[in-house]
Amino acid sequence: MKIFLDTANLEEIKMAKNWGIIDGVTTNPTLVSKEGNIDFETRVKEICEVVKGPVSAEVVSMDYENMVKEARHLASLSEYVVVKIPMTQDGIKAVKTLSSEGIKTNVTLVFSPLQALLAAKAGATYVSPFIGRIDDIGNQGLELIEEILQIYYNYDFDTQIIAASVRHPYHVVEVAKMGCDVATIPFGVLQKLFFHPLTDKGIERFNEDWKKYLNSIKK
Ligand code: E4P
Repeated sequence: MKIFLDTANLEEIKMAKNWGIIDGVTTNPTLVSKEGNIDFETRVKEICEVVKGPVSAEVVSMDYENMVKEARHLASLSEYVVVKIPMTQDGIKAVKTLSSEGIKTNVTLVFSPLQALLAAKAGATYVSPFIGRIDDIGNQGLELIEEILQIYYNYDFDTQIIAASVRHPYHVVEVAKMGCDVATIPFGVLQKLFFHPLTDKGIERFNEDWKKYLNSIKK
């Protein structure tokens, strides 16, 4: 499973890239706004230079003509840009046009298997079902991933599924077990994936025993 980092924060991206475990990055207008006074296009280019892999940057236009225009401009910033398009009628129409031009797309704000089916039919490179937000309203986000996986398998669609709105390590392990293509993970959740109390305890014991051993061979 590929791991994308769900952030527009350059320090977090650099750190995770140095760990050698991220394949790409996803941003959205909320994540960009958290960065304060930055130039969006400059930040997208900086992220692409660090990641050297797919970097999702979202359009903010809502009508077909402007979405396509904005998407072409974003795609011109770097070969790594994947244009994030919201799941609307205009959005799907824009994805169809952009995919015929070879521009990579990520259909975002997907909450149903039918929306994912339409995104794949339009030729989207990625589809982003938001599992955490589904859990938030009392439904099962993980079930949506299973349904989309089944539909894409039935018809051999090339569109890759990005499990988005990931809130905790359990989401990550479950989507990995299902064979989801990608999980886009916030930095705080990514950090948690490293840890296990028995690993810490094990390291502590090995260090203590090693000290004992060194002391014993001195005598
Ligand atoms: C996906 O690409 C989105 O950026 C993100 O996963 C949304 O997550 P949230 O529901 O935590 O805002």
